[in-house]
Amino acid sequence: MASSIAIDGPAGAGKSTIARMVAGELGFIYVDTGAMYRAMALYMIKKGIDAGDSGKISATCVSADITIKHENGEQVVYLNGENVNGLIRTEEVGNMASASSVNADVRRKLVELQQKLAETTSVVMDGRDIGTVVLPGADLKIYLTASVEVRADRRYRELTEKGVSCDLEAIKKDITERDYRDMHREISPLVQADDAVLVDSSEMTIKQVADRILELYRERV
Ligand code: DC
Repeated sequence: MASSIAIDGPAGAGKSTIARMVAGELGFIYVDTGAMYRAMALYMIKKGIDAGDSGKISATCVSADITIKHENGEQVVYLNGENVNGLIRTEEVGNMASASSVNADVRRKLVELQQKLAETTSVVMDGRDIGTVVLPGADLKIYLTASVEVRADRRYRELTEKGVSCDLEAIKKDITERDYRDMHREISPLVQADDAVLVDSSEMTIKQVADRILELYRERV
């Protein structure tokens, strides 16, 4: 039977880096569900749809064909046949993803895809509602968080290293707004599942967090 580890938490807590490491260690597939919401958001941006127009978002998401493939150990997201990995990591797409992911039709479509992926393959899946909605029966659930200051600082350094000029205060404001929206939306808000283990990565290295998750998983299975 397929095994699963669910990792939820706010933006910038290090979920994707850690989930990828844990998956690599266990030989599981890493599924980045945020990338699917980002691909959907890119589609909405391309169609010129307003983030607040839920009627148009519902009508438009039907024609977005989002599929996932794993190539050389990396998840590749296809939007209507096009590899969009290189287009979905911008702040604009991230903010649109946070806004359009409040939509019930968008969520239904992507949750179904995520559940299908985990049916036959062992996965480490990260997102906001994995432990609560997508994989309620996951073998291990982690709620990974870090302080807003630490998360903003990490994002600032990541962007600066890439040569992107940015403003720390603006990043902090963006993260705070995104957290609020993700935690207060009506459908599938970001909350810690009752049976999830809380890990605060503020004072931990990536390796320490990954080791802790592996230790918890091995204790359980
Ligand atoms: O993890 P991320 O920053 O790539 O996610 C982008 C947005 O997508 C996030 O702000 C909220 C939404 N999202 C979601 O609602 N549910 C998920 N399982 C994953 C992401």
